[in-house]
Amino acid sequence: MSSYVYMKILESRPRRYDRGIAMLSFGQSEKARKRLVEENIKPGNRVLDIGCGTGTTAILAASKGAEVTGFDISAQMLDVAREKVESTSLGDRIELMEMGVSGMDRFADISFDVVISTLTFSELSLDEQAYVLGHAHRILRPGGVLAIADEARPKTAGKRLLHGIVRFPLLVVTFAVTQTTTHAVKGLTELVRSAGFHIETEERSMLGSFLYLVGRKDLRK
Ligand SMILES: C[S@@+](CC[C@H](N)C(=O)[O-])C[C@H]1O[C@@H](n2cnc3c(N)ncnc32)[C@H](O)[C@@H]1O
Repeated sequence: MSSYVYMKILESRPRRYDRGIAMLSFGQSEKARKRLVEENIKPGNRVLDIGCGTGTTAILAASKGAEVTGFDISAQMLDVAREKVESTSLGDRIELMEMGVSGMDRFADISFDVVISTLTFSELSLDEQAYVLGHAHRILRPGGVLAIADEARPKTAGKRLLHGIVRFPLLVVTFAVTQTTTHAVKGLTELVRSAGFHIETEERSMLGSFLYLVGRKDLRK
């Protein structure tokens, strides 16, 4: 999943993002989004999509009957998302907001059933990740679900070395083109646990470099 380093390049060209990310991830991004929606979202759920980008996951969730709010810091990514939503009949189920994660304090306590995020935590600093997780816990109903799919730092030294060798040239190219980079998430499972969630699923694929994580808020809180 080292090709996710190219995410930043593709985000600087939002109209090419969907096709580019599907190709570069060898279809893994699509597979992960579908799995996340199929396993965690039910008709009628109120869903928050953090860093919704061009809206692919939000549209999948709405087509399953959920009421989705998606937010993203990039106006350009949201322009593409709006066009995609308009080309469906799901417009009344999807609200898109231009804002950064620091705006999450505007959401009311216990206002969502499911919080999702695909390929966005790897673009947040550790402080931002902790901030987001704190708010995700606050705004979820008791028993609500947090589901994340993202690029992760492999756990073992051997896999990290291999992953690093593949990733390094891509990091350089990405930085040269966009002056930004991604940070494969590290210790996210612990961070999610510290925010108060019970970990229900933690699965890694692609040499341990892609993480699928599901946490649940306690029923009594
Ligand atoms: C790689 S894209 C993933 C988009 C989408 N979730 C997907 O699965 O295709 C990461 C997204 O995170 C957004 N993002 C990065 N930092 C953010 C922040 N601080 N607040 C909100 N969105 C942010 C970017 O604008 C971008 O659209």
